[in-house]
Amino acid sequence: MIKKFNIIFFFVLFSFVSFLENDWDWDKIDPSNMNFPKNFLWGSATCEYQNSGAQNCPNNNWATWENAFDENGKSRIKNAQKSKKSTDHYNLYKEEIYLMKNLGLNSYRFSIEWSLIEPEEGKFDNEAIEHYKNLIDELIKNGITPMITLHHFTTPNWFHEKGSFEKEENIDYFVRFSSFVFNQFSNKVNLWCTINEPAIYSFVGYVLGRFPPGEVDLQKAGDVLKNLLIAHTKVYEKLKSLPNGQNSKIGIVHNILKFEPYNSWNPIESIPCSYLSDITSNAVVEFFKTGYFNFYIPLKAYTTYENFDPKLDFVGLNYYSHPLLKMQISYSEPLYSSCYEGQEMSDYTFRLYPEGLYRAIEEISAFNVPIYITENGIPDNNDTKRSVFINRYLYALSKAIEDGFDVRGYFYWTLVDNFEWNEGFLVKFGLYDVDFDTQQRTLKPGALAYKKIIDDWKKKNTK
Ligand code: BGC
Repeated sequence: MIKKFNIIFFFVLFSFVSFLENDWDWDKIDPSNMNFPKNFLWGSATCEYQNSGAQNCPNNNWATWENAFDENGKSRIKNAQKSKKSTDHYNLYKEEIYLMKNLGLNSYRFSIEWSLIEPEEGKFDNEAIEHYKNLIDELIKNGITPMITLHHFTTPNWFHEKGSFEKEENIDYFVRFSSFVFNQFSNKVNLWCTINEPAIYSFVGYVLGRFPPGEVDLQKAGDVLKNLLIAHTKVYEKLKSLPNGQNSKIGIVHNILKFEPYNSWNPIESIPCSYLSDITSNAVVEFFKTGYFNFYIPLKAYTTYENFDPKLDFVGLNYYSHPLLKMQISYSEPLYSSCYEGQEMSDYTFRLYPEGLYRAIEEISAFNVPIYITENGIPDNNDTKRSVFINRYLYALSKAIEDGFDVRGYFYWTLVDNFEWNEGFLVKFGLYDVDFDTQQRTLKPGALAYKKIIDDWKKKNTK
């Protein structure tokens, strides 16, 4: 009995101590007290398909996916929405550069759409190359440093049909495309992200089945993640060997997405959280820290692959939240995303958790390379929480920099409301609101918090 009591006491104490350690008292914090380095990059991030839609990117696997139906004949996208031309970024990029300047941004992270550059296997499209050249030139002319992402969730249909990243032998196609793009633009662009969120790509496509190919197959999820990490390494090595390679900075983008149990003493919450965190985040962190790739499949053997030689010049950290999972009596959704009293939820599935950004930076600093926050933002359809979000998350970032973490830039996700994958247009992260009929953009009041932080930083640095 005494023993039992001790264990319970230990658990309660442990939960309380970890709560104190991880959660900050925002009543005692003045978030306006921020400082950022002189050469800091202030940006926003986008993805070609999300911002240009299927009409502008007709040959990619998402364009096919959003027109397909599941086994019940239902659309894969909420409310059967279609991306159409989304925000028509492909054609309106000049206006968008103006919007960036209006906020004081000095950097822009965007993806180069593989299916536009190589719509058919081995055929490279001159018009698309010209387009990206013009975009890059326009950015540079306006004092905006470009950061390119080579793979942001979508692939050309022909690559998808070959089995995509499920097959290790397909990696060479991605290396060829990456080298081609690098040869075109590396004389002007210094910052290159190979792959956006490999673990999320494998998790949502092969565990949740919500992204193409819509499967629920842990074995494939593990294979795909391993192949994406190998693809990163191969691309890194290849680009480094090309002209401009040695001067360019090449990194990967990882989302620190770790699930936490609402009650750490409750195994129904803590066991799934720990497993989910392993496959959505820890496997990638471990790979870059140790060169080992582990992917555990319940009731099967632990799959371990050794002796990788992961390489990076920087890491892009995408961070939104540490989702807090709470148990409920429900067959379809036994765990749901929640928050503690005093915290707030965003309009999507996560709580606002600025101190989590500090924790994520601390964790990713183990890669021992400079860090860029390549995505961070809030889905906030009525724009009521955006300014608090920006002030608090950027306060947490400033504190991390003050404590010695080498963070060199911050990219808000995202510039204008866009197509949020299977959520369609229902989730709004943008700094600008978009009227999709007229393509009229309007600055959201909450975005002014971002502008003010950048203005203050500029004032300090031009004194
Ligand atoms: C992805 C974006 C996505 C954002 C918000 C990130 O995981 O890179 O494409 O829109 O999260 O959900």
